[in-house]
Amino acid sequence: MAGRFSQKHQRVRPNSNEEQVIKRASEHFERSLVEVAGQVAGSIAALEHPAKDEALNYGEIFLRDNVPVMIYMLAKKRYDVVRHFLSVCLDLQSTTYQTRGVFPTSFVEEEGELIADYGQRSIGRITSADASLWWPVLCWLYVRRSGDESFGTSQRVQRGVQLLLDLVLHPTFEGTPVLFVPDCSFMIDRPMDVWGAPLEVEVLLHACLRSCIELMELSRKNQVSRLLDQRLVLTRQWVHDLRQFLLKHYWVTSKTMQVLRRRPTEQYGEDQHQNEFNVQPQVVPSWLQDWLENRGGYLIGNIRTGRPDFRFYSLGNSLACMFGVLTAPQQRALFRLVLHNRHHLMAQMPMRICHPPMDGAEWENKTGSDPKNWPWSYHNGGHWPSLLWFFGASILLHERRYPDADVLLMGQMRALLEECYWSQLNQLPRQKWAEYFDGPTGTWVGQQSRTYQTWTIVGFLLMHHFLRVAPEDVEMLDLEELLPEKKYKKKPV
Ligand code: GLC
Repeated sequence: MAGRFSQKHQRVRPNSNEEQVIKRASEHFERSLVEVAGQVAGSIAALEHPAKDEALNYGEIFLRDNVPVMIYMLAKKRYDVVRHFLSVCLDLQSTTYQTRGVFPTSFVEEEGELIADYGQRSIGRITSADASLWWPVLCWLYVRRSGDESFGTSQRVQRGVQLLLDLVLHPTFEGTPVLFVPDCSFMIDRPMDVWGAPLEVEVLLHACLRSCIELMELSRKNQVSRLLDQRLVLTRQWVHDLRQFLLKHYWVTSKTMQVLRRRPTEQYGEDQHQNEFNVQPQVVPSWLQDWLENRGGYLIGNIRTGRPDFRFYSLGNSLACMFGVLTAPQQRALFRLVLHNRHHLMAQMPMRICHPPMDGAEWENKTGSDPKNWPWSYHNGGHWPSLLWFFGASILLHERRYPDADVLLMGQMRALLEECYWSQLNQLPRQKWAEYFDGPTGTWVGQQSRTYQTWTIVGFLLMHHFLRVAPEDVEMLDLEELLPEKKYKKKPV
């Protein structure tokens, strides 16, 4: 694998100082690590911020920002750090009545005490859903990679999994397999009209439930329990229904749009299934035609009665690819879409968080006139370097899963990824590893951007690791069970 691509793609670019950049980035990264109870437990969100005197929370350990940190630690075989991080988070899983089972968005150690934020301390007092959904995923990736099954089967981990499942697997008013969440409950944590069933949360839910199944299966090896068996049956069914729901209501291509636009509206009764959410053809945005082109496809941002969110979200789509929510041909349709729209999505600083941005009255109404989410800035069409590795890993994983599929397209994707990597390599050190970039081309450092942002730094290090150091390590992200017959067909070197 490495051999096949090494000559064609690992172009040596004079003056790029790749080694030097990696060395400096690694040093910055080490500085972001903090100790809890005398042991390294994770990274703070950012090392610096221009307005240093403001009382901000960049010095806290955010669960979501530590996802790439922990994956990097797994790649580097620093298992103690990951185990301690998982363990500290588990201690902080809420036990109070209204939030029982929820993991905190962030935490910090102050005078020997851990202070967690479940939403009661953040701007706008928002509660995250993604932190809770990521925990079992990280836990399962850790157990599988490190072989530390005793942690996975321990009573506290198994109890944590059950508490979390209680939050998800229960009857609701919607009666659908999605998790219903308020606005701002994931990486996009300011009002952006992303309430209900936003893609990122639902894809994470899918990965979370699959990881819980793996962790429960581990424990089932050691003990027979009818309750556990029932939970497994229910969780498996939920995962299945959720995936079907996402593929049915979120996946769009030029072909599906032609059908959607001409289907009947105002359908009533149990047998009418063509337009369950009563979407009027007028809500389909005009930019979609060129965006989808002939053979592109993607998962839309959200489905809601009458008002689907057609915006493209990079993280939700990348995760759907990486975690196998999308079928192999759908993954390639997504790659084609990104390639076709690269001037938008990658531009000068890969990768744009969400497209297109809202402006005018829509921006006023939907963001509450939020100046940080001004069009082309921050969550509203801004460019976040930390997002590239998720998409990059999806491409690299696809290559390994399906080595013989569409070689031409995959060659183009490889080239695109290399270019994005070089573009970050050449810019980020000068731009002080900024958090996000503004404007339609993502050229300007974000107006309120922090600098030396940890997930910018570690995201780049991960990309370097998967491209140059150990390409096979990307397989640790694969949530498919590695049954002997499903093992990767290795490419001839
Ligand atoms: C911002 C981001 C959020 C991130 C946090 C810490 O609030 O929107 O996703 O976790 O900063 O970096």
